[in-house]
Amino acid sequence: MPTEAALEKPNFAKSVTMYSEARRTLAAGVSSNVRLGGAPSPLYYVRGKGAHLFDVDGNRSIDYVLGNGPAILGHAPDAVLDAVRDSLDDGQLFGAQNTREVALSQALCRVLPNAELIRFATSGTEAVQMAFRLARSFTGRNRIIKFEGHYHGWVDSVAFSVKPSENAAGPATHPVPVPETPGIAQDAAEGLIVCGWNDLDALDGLLRAHGHDVAAVIMEPMMVNGGVIPPEPGYLPGVQSLCRRHGAVFICDEVITGFRVGLTGGQGKAGVQPDLSIYAKAISGGFPLSAVAGRRDIMEQLGSGVSHGGTYNGHVQSMAAGLAVIEQLTKDDGAAYRAMDLAGGRLMAGLRDLAGQHQLPLQVNGLPTVFQTAVSAAGAPRTYRDAARFDQQLMTAFVDAMRDAGIRINPRGVWFLSTAHDDAVIDDTLGRAAHAMREFSRTCPDVGG
Ligand SMILES: Cc1ncc(COP(=O)(O)O)c(C=O)c1O
Repeated sequence: MPTEAALEKPNFAKSVTMYSEARRTLAAGVSSNVRLGGAPSPLYYVRGKGAHLFDVDGNRSIDYVLGNGPAILGHAPDAVLDAVRDSLDDGQLFGAQNTREVALSQALCRVLPNAELIRFATSGTEAVQMAFRLARSFTGRNRIIKFEGHYHGWVDSVAFSVKPSENAAGPATHPVPVPETPGIAQDAAEGLIVCGWNDLDALDGLLRAHGHDVAAVIMEPMMVNGGVIPPEPGYLPGVQSLCRRHGAVFICDEVITGFRVGLTGGQGKAGVQPDLSIYAKAISGGFPLSAVAGRRDIMEQLGSGVSHGGTYNGHVQSMAAGLAVIEQLTKDDGAAYRAMDLAGGRLMAGLRDLAGQHQLPLQVNGLPTVFQTAVSAAGAPRTYRDAARFDQQLMTAFVDAMRDAGIRINPRGVWFLSTAHDDAVIDDTLGRAAHAMREFSRTCPDVGG
C-alpha cells in the first residue's frame, strides 16, 4: 500500500471569482445543471492530459470524472487527437454522407454482438428518443417502461423518477412517475410507466397489466446513475424473456456502460441480446457522438418512413475520433480492458483497505472501470431506494475530502477509470486517498467504528 501523501489544502479562489463572473453571461454559471454545486463553487478547468485535470487556480487533480464517463482513453489522448487533426482539413460537415461514417458503422457492427445496423446521432438523449420512435412505430404501441433511478437524458419523455425522494416515489412495488424538474409537459408522464429495478416480479406484473400498450422496456444494463448497482444474476435474461413474451422492444441504454465495462458493454456481461442498444460517451472518447444499434427489421424502418434527422449526425471529427477509439480499445484482443480491470480492481481493493484502517464503513460497489464509494454501514445496495438512502451529507464530505487531496470523483461518489490510470496513477491516488480518509475521519468522527 503506498504511503500517505503529505498534502496542503488547495486554494480555489480563482474558480470562485470565475463563477461570479460566469454568472453574468452564462446561465447559472455552467452549461449543464449536473455541474452545479460543489464547495466553494463549481470549479473551472483550463486543461486535461491523461489522468489529470488542471484548474484555473493551478491545482492538478487525478480525474475520475472523465467528463462523466466518455474519456475512456484519458484526456487529450494522442491517438484520438492525431486522428481528429488528420480529419480537420477534410472539413466538418457535408449535409451528406462521409467515408468515415461508413467505416465507423462497419467497425461497430463487427465489434458489437447485437448490432445489425447502426444510426448515428450526437448525444445520448437524442439516441434514446430515436429508439423510442423506432419501438413505437415497430409495435404500434405507445408506452415505455423505465426504471427508478435510471437516467436516459434530460428531455420530457424520460425525465422522470431519476432521483425521486422516497416520499414522492410511492410504494416500491408500484412507483409513480416523479418529474425531475419543473417545466415538463403535463401529459409527458402518460407515455411512461415506472418500475422498480432488479425486481422481475414487478416487471412481470406491469407487463401482464399493460403489455398490450408497451412499446419498449428501457434500462441501463448496470445501473450507474441511481447508485452503481449490477443486475442480479438472471435478472436481465428474465427481462429479455418477458419483453419477448409481451412483444415489447428491449432497449439497453449503454450510454455509460458501452465500451466502458468491456467491448460488449453491460449486455455482454449479462449475456443478453437486446433489440436496440444506445451508445454514446466512451464510443468516441469525449467527442460528441451517439448511436442506436440493433435489429435489422427495427432499424430498417429508418429507410421506410420513420424519420430521424440531425444537422451534426455523422460529424467528420466525431467519426474520426470514434474510429481511433475503437482501434485503441480492440487492439491486442482488448488489452486495454485487461489493464483497466487490473488497475481499477487494485484501486477498489486499496480504498477498502484504507477504509478498514480508519474504521470507516465504506461501500465500494460496481466494476473496476466504474464504481461508487459511499459511507454507509447498510451493506451493498440492490435497488435505487437502497442507494437513495445513502447519507448525502456524508457523501459530500467524502467527495470534498477526496477533492482536497487532489482526487476528483463525481458528487455521487462515482469513479470512472481510463487507460491513462496506470499503476503510478493508482499509487498516487491511494497515497492521497489515505490522507483524504484521515481528514474525513477527523471531520466526521461519529462515522468510524
Ligand atoms: C445512461 C444514460 N443514458 C442517456 C444519457 C444522456 O446522454 P447525453 O448526456 O449525451 O444526452 C446519459 C447521460 O449521462 C446516461 O448516463
